[in-house]
Amino acid sequence: MVLGTLWNEDTTPSYGSKDPIPLDLRHKEHARRSTTTIESDEALKLSLKEVNGSESDEGQQLLHKEILRIENQDGHESIHKELQRIENKDGQRLLIKDERGYVPPPDYLQKEAILDYDLDRFPFVNALRKVLNENEDADLSQLHKTISCQRIVTATTQRPVVGPRQNPWNKAYQAARNIGVRTEDCIWWDFMGLYHDFVQNYILDALSVDYVAFQSYPSFRCHLPYTGAVGRPHRDADYAHGSSEINYWLPVTEVFDTNSLQTESKRDQSDFHPIVAKPGQVCQFYGNQVFHYNVNNETNATRVSIDFRVIRKTEGEWSAESFDKFRLGEYFKIMSRSGLVEVDTPEFKWLVQEAR
Ligand SMILES: [Fe+2]
Repeated sequence: MVLGTLWNEDTTPSYGSKDPIPLDLRHKEHARRSTTTIESDEALKLSLKEVNGSESDEGQQLLHKEILRIENQDGHESIHKELQRIENKDGQRLLIKDERGYVPPPDYLQKEAILDYDLDRFPFVNALRKVLNENEDADLSQLHKTISCQRIVTATTQRPVVGPRQNPWNKAYQAARNIGVRTEDCIWWDFMGLYHDFVQNYILDALSVDYVAFQSYPSFRCHLPYTGAVGRPHRDADYAHGSSEINYWLPVTEVFDTNSLQTESKRDQSDFHPIVAKPGQVCQFYGNQVFHYNVNNETNATRVSIDFRVIRKTEGEWSAESFDKFRLGEYFKIMSRSGLVEVDTPEFKWLVQEAR
């Protein structure tokens, strides 16, 4: 039984989900948000069974289907996004699933935020200098002035984009990781210890949870001047990442203008801008659902950054879907308030069970 339909006209320009990137702003589309409230039908019972493991009390909980429709200039309409929201009678949110079956993080975590952290407490610049085999006072924003990089920069006069494999700092990072994983190499494990410390003592607080799944190894990026943009505009969902994920992007050089990651502050905002931040700041953003990309670095500064994805342990976000392709104990490790949760411990097994 349908109780109510259609609310909230919204003229914010938006884009079809199959569009690779809203770079061409000439084709403005008209977004209309519709909400249909459904009470007591088979779909509702099925959904509530998923939530509670039992049938709902009729009338105690409502399933809202929220559909964002995109209408182009020809009047053609296609479903852009569909959410299922289950609320109690007071309107308190119990669970939202998107069209892929994931529960997204709450709204405040879907907005880009630049967060400060104590660089003395979490010395990422020093740790990465060591990983890259640079001097302890090296200015990482000037890596492109080293002899090996000069060759790379010169080579790009013939080929405008230098891929990650040609970048000597990507190679240095990968080599440190490969050696570290095989041995007791203290430089790598000092860096990983710092990473774990940051997740345990900073990220858990930022996310207001006691457990978080986090990317086992952070991704490393080095964007040299004049070397073009690596990768294409994308949302992480394009690469089968689940939409419960939240991204952290942590630069160890000042980032601005074209040396930084370009993104929109929230999905469909289309307010594309470079992230502006410095060491001691980390950008929290919803890379799963916002477009982000690099452009040709036309500054005189190299950008060095790490980034990683996390999933909070909350009912819904911590789900079988979330860890289906990117698995706990493999792509993700688990951090608790008291430290890393080792694989094969009873606590780890319980946390895996909690995701089923
Ligand atoms: Fe991404």
